[in-house]
Amino acid sequence: MPISIPVRLRRLRQTEAVRAMLNETALTPANLVAPLFVHDSPKAEPVGSMPGVERVSLDGLVEKARRLHELGVKGVALFAKIPDDKKSSGGEEALNPHTLALRAIRRIKADVPGLVIFADIALDPYTTHGHDGVLTGDRADVDNDATLEVLAKMAVLSAAAGADFVAPSDMMDGRVAVIREALDEAGHTRTGILAYSAKFASAAYGPFRDAVGSSRKPGEKSLSKATYQLNPGNRREALREALADEAEGADMLMVKPAGDYLDIIRDLREATDAPIAAYQVSGEYARLQAAARLGWLDLRAARDESLLAIRRAGADFILTYFAEAWASDYHAR
Ligand code: PBG
Repeated sequence: MPISIPVRLRRLRQTEAVRAMLNETALTPANLVAPLFVHDSPKAEPVGSMPGVERVSLDGLVEKARRLHELGVKGVALFAKIPDDKKSSGGEEALNPHTLALRAIRRIKADVPGLVIFADIALDPYTTHGHDGVLTGDRADVDNDATLEVLAKMAVLSAAAGADFVAPSDMMDGRVAVIREALDEAGHTRTGILAYSAKFASAAYGPFRDAVGSSRKPGEKSLSKATYQLNPGNRREALREALADEAEGADMLMVKPAGDYLDIIRDLREATDAPIAAYQVSGEYARLQAAARLGWLDLRAARDESLLAIRRAGADFILTYFAEAWASDYHAR
C-alpha cells in the first residue's frame, strides 16, 4: 500500500534527464587553472609525492600549455624550481631579469597567447631558508616591510614579461597596495592582482615544497610559516584578510587550501562580489592519488567530487593539479 507523502524529493532524481536538468553546480574546463612546474633542465622529472606531475623544461612547458589551451583550460600558474646554487638568504635571484620564472612567462605569452598567465609573487623558491620573504636582522622572523619592496619589483618584472595577473602568495601585510602602486607607476595598469588572501599555514603544502625544493632540508616538511600564514582555526581572521586585500586593490581573492576550507570559500562568496579562486593544493592532490593507488578510492569519482564541492562552495575558478586530466575526461564524456 503506497503511503501518501506530499514531498517526495526522489521524484526529482528519477531519471538521468531530470537529474541533469536540475543540476545546480556546473564545472567546465574554463573554471580550471593548471599550476605548472618548470626547471632549468632539458629532461622532465617526476615529482615523487605528486604522481602524474612533473617539473618540465621551457619547451616542455610550452607543450603542456598548448595542450591545456586546446582542452579549454584558460589559465596557468607558473612555479619555477631554482637550483640550490642560485638561492640566497635574500632571494636575489627573484629579481634577475633572466630568471627562469620570467623566461617561462615570456615563452608562454609568445607561443600560447590565448592563455591567462598567473605569476607567483613570493620568495620561497629563491631563499635558502624556504621562507616567502627576507628575514629580520636576528633571522627570527620574516621582515614584512623589507619583503614588500622585493615583491613589488618582482611583480613589475612579471608584468613586463607578460603576466596577465600577478599572484602574491606570501601573506605579507600591505602587499596588494604596494604591488598595485608599483604596477601602476610602471605603466602596467592592465596587469591584475590575484591575492592569495586566505592562505592558511597548512600541512597540505608538503608535496609542493618537494616540487620547488623549498622545504629547507631535504625531506623536512615542517617549515613553519605561522607568523604570516593564517591559523587553520581562524574563520573571522580569514575574512578580514580577504576584505583588506580587496580594499587594497586586489582584482580577485583566493582561498587556499580549498577542500578543507569550503566554509571559508562560502564566507568570502557571501561577503564580497569579487571573483573568488580556490587552490586545491598539492597535499589534497597527493592524498587522493595515494588512496587511489592503494585501491581505497576511485580516483576519477573522488577527483570529480572534490572539484564539484569547491565550485559549490562558491569558487569561480579552481587551481588544481587535476586540470589537464579532468579537462581531457570532460571532452571524452
Ligand atoms: C609559497 C607557495 C606554496 C604553495 C604555493 N605557493 C607553499 C608554501 O606556502 O610553503 C603551495 C601550493 C601547493 O601546495 O600546491 N609561496
